[in-house]
Amino acid sequence: MTNDDFAAIAGVVRRRSGIVLTSDKAYLLETRLGPVLTKFALVSLAALGQRLRHQTEEALERSVVEALTTHESSFFRDGKPFDHLARNLPRLLASRTPGKPLRIWSAACSTGQEPYSIAMLVADAVAGRMDSRVEILATDISAEILQKARQGVFTQFEVQRGLPIRSLVKYFRQDGTKWKILPEIASLVRFEERNLLKDFSGVGQFEGIFCRNVLIYFDAATKACVLEALARRLAPNGVLYLGGAETVLGLTEKLVPVQGERGAYAVAAQRAAA
Ligand SMILES: C[S@@+](CC[C@H](N)C(=O)[O-])C[C@H]1O[C@@H](n2cnc3c(N)ncnc32)[C@H](O)[C@@H]1O
Repeated sequence: MTNDDFAAIAGVVRRRSGIVLTSDKAYLLETRLGPVLTKFALVSLAALGQRLRHQTEEALERSVVEALTTHESSFFRDGKPFDHLARNLPRLLASRTPGKPLRIWSAACSTGQEPYSIAMLVADAVAGRMDSRVEILATDISAEILQKARQGVFTQFEVQRGLPIRSLVKYFRQDGTKWKILPEIASLVRFEERNLLKDFSGVGQFEGIFCRNVLIYFDAATKACVLEALARRLAPNGVLYLGGAETVLGLTEKLVPVQGERGAYAVAAQRAAA
């Protein structure tokens, strides 16, 4: 594979998803693109690079991006944002406008552990009175990963990562060697394919937005654009949760850290007052 081939592949990934692949990530191409080469009858990464340079093919480009996105996730990942949401849910539920649901968005939801963790907190907060007061929107750029997320089926290894045994017993049923989330928890979550670079239409406003461990893959300009778009979707009393290695600082003034809460951000005062 030449530098031009690498640039053609990385260029497609960046244009479609915002993810920046630097040349030290060339090994990722070697390890992850094998199935794409087979599927599209390409003999090598060089052949793939050449084809991407010379024609735009939706299905091929989509497969390349799917293969090169990282879908690592776990239940209640990093703990703190979920603790913060759990503490705030009673207040948010009490202060919602009558007739309007409380809305929470998991904006790069991967295999579903994040939105299902939120749904379990909601179920705890409403103490079993499951009604339509809370909507959880879970979105991701990857159609394949959303298919897995919608199934709500997790391996023993996956449920052992971060899920308290109490929640496993309460909110899952065993299905052979796997665990399936209960339908009443799953029904709180609506999955949709959306790209953070462009698909914000009709998404509405949210009291909570989880956008975690995805901005790290973007360049500064893309991070700033996405953060400003998210700030516009945050209700005045809403909170944006970012991943442990992510921040708004130096990227936008529309969001400010929530005092004493690592990874939590609120709309800046002038916007909230506006
Ligand atoms: C590392 S996972 C993070 C999952 C979860 N938020 C967490 O913290 O555990 C990153 C996810 O971001 C998604 N992603 C990457 N680029 C995206 C984009 N432009 N729009 C929406 N999702 C994107 C990937 O498909 C992947 O599922």
